[in-house]
Amino acid sequence: MTEQLTLPTAPGFLWGASTAAHQIEGGNVNSDWWAKEHAAGTPCAESSGDAVDSYHRYPEDVRLLADAGLNAYRFSVEWARVEPAEGEISRAQLAHYRRVIDTCLAAGVTPVVTLLHFTLPRWFAERGGWFARDAVDAYARYVETVTSILDDVRHVVTINEPNITSMMLGASRRSTLDAVGLAAPDEAASEIQATAHRRAVEVLRGLGHVRAGWTVANQVFQAAPGAEAARDAYAYPREDYFLEVARDDDFVGVQSYLRTIIGPDGEPVPFGDDVERTLTGWEYYPQALGEALEYTHRLTGGVPMLVTENGVATADDDRRIDYTTGALEGMARAMSGGCRVEGYLHWSLLDNYEWMSGFAPTFGLIAVDRTTFERTPKPSLAWLGKVARTGELPG
Ligand code: BGC
Repeated sequence: MTEQLTLPTAPGFLWGASTAAHQIEGGNVNSDWWAKEHAAGTPCAESSGDAVDSYHRYPEDVRLLADAGLNAYRFSVEWARVEPAEGEISRAQLAHYRRVIDTCLAAGVTPVVTLLHFTLPRWFAERGGWFARDAVDAYARYVETVTSILDDVRHVVTINEPNITSMMLGASRRSTLDAVGLAAPDEAASEIQATAHRRAVEVLRGLGHVRAGWTVANQVFQAAPGAEAARDAYAYPREDYFLEVARDDDFVGVQSYLRTIIGPDGEPVPFGDDVERTLTGWEYYPQALGEALEYTHRLTGGVPMLVTENGVATADDDRRIDYTTGALEGMARAMSGGCRVEGYLHWSLLDNYEWMSGFAPTFGLIAVDRTTFERTPKPSLAWLGKVARTGELPG
């Protein structure tokens, strides 16, 4: 079956991996997440601490990715570093991120730059975050500041998974943190982020050479028998709204890991004990990516897609290769069915800090010793590089 499926190859197609600043850099002390990790009664399993020290070791990370045959690297610029106090811009931090971009370009790697990946500067969060009166203006000023280092950068993500942020804000306002991920979203936060996104797209397009979009966490909501209307009502504020916003964008980032079945009562149906689970407790469901692409294509009316995240938390790298094979088969089918996909960026390049779960769920193509920070590529890294070069999935 796999033989008939053809995948595009590098360099025409972006084949690579993704990361996010807070999860890999270390010492992000000026961010709201650092404060959350260290607060009394924190829901976080541990501190991000030094993370995997990519703040200093990014040249090695980019080299490992390029040496494997991959040609794209998605990383995020950390607002809390660039603007540590309101209106105070760190030229040194901007220069740091410019060096990351230059390192990618010198290695023949296309940088995909995310401007906001969940974490906010503490000063911004403390005065109300997205709910502050001038939140959108403050964010737009930050975006304008970062444009000074975006020469030669063609792909920029304005906001990572605004739908997850809205769900987290919805959950925290109702003090139901354990429901994070599926909580009813705070719809005001959704609208504010959409406004912020549009402002950012305008600023970025003004540069002339940048294509801008945001990324949406796609949950592949499926209806249990007879639950079609309940599924639609559940999906709209959690996903569809954000895909509709993307209709005017240059691309949309598709982030896919799993599916969620909605029952007639309008709630997710728990999956059975016989289902294989990953280290995050999610169902092992590689088909999710193909379904997410088809859904996103339909809802956006054909906006070009970039798979900006897809992967699996597992200690067994064979399962990672198996999962990714299934995901890429789905992507190949979606593409032959008319979906416009411009790249596949695996989550994640490195084992890293997985938010509230700490370092235990390992999503990386590269393992990292948390004491020495030594990098050890897993077989899946070379495997993905070979897929990128040949366009073939070993059957
Ligand atoms: C996020 C990443 C996260 C990954 C796995 C996505 O929701 O953008 O930051 O690590 O999923 O949970």
